[in-house]
Amino acid sequence: MPMQSVEREASIVVCSTCRHDADNRENEKGERGGELLYRELEALAGQAEDSSGRVSLQRMPCLFACSRFCTIHLRAPGKIGYVLGNFTPDRESAEAILAFFRAYRESEEGIVPFRGWPEGVKGHFIARMPPEGYVLESG
Ligand code: FES
Repeated sequence: MPMQSVEREASIVVCSTCRHDADNRENEKGERGGELLYRELEALAGQAEDSSGRVSLQRMPCLFACSRFCTIHLRAPGKIGYVLGNFTPDRESAEAILAFFRAYRESEEGIVPFRGWPEGVKGHFIARMPPEGYVLESG
């Protein structure tokens, strides 16, 4: 599967192929959960006022965290990246993801203080990845 080039900027990458729920890969209309979550994010981001800025949204098939559907990846040049999962493909999840993303995008190194986390992302983190050329200092 060839890679597609995208802007190097803070973005939300949504797994487009995540299952809809534990029993079904797709809903009654044949739509995957990941695709529905992407559309919720797109709709919300499209409603954003100028003050919150444009949100870069991308989709790709399978982030290799399938059992934690629906999954997303947050990334930005020079910042810690994250994979989050266990989202239901609905408006509430999209709101929490976008709220966290905005705080992430504003942060210096991708580290958002816990007090700034929306409730809807707590317990959803699967992994964090250091940006190319960096690791976190050991304590
Ligand atoms: S199908 Fe979404 S992580 Fe694999």
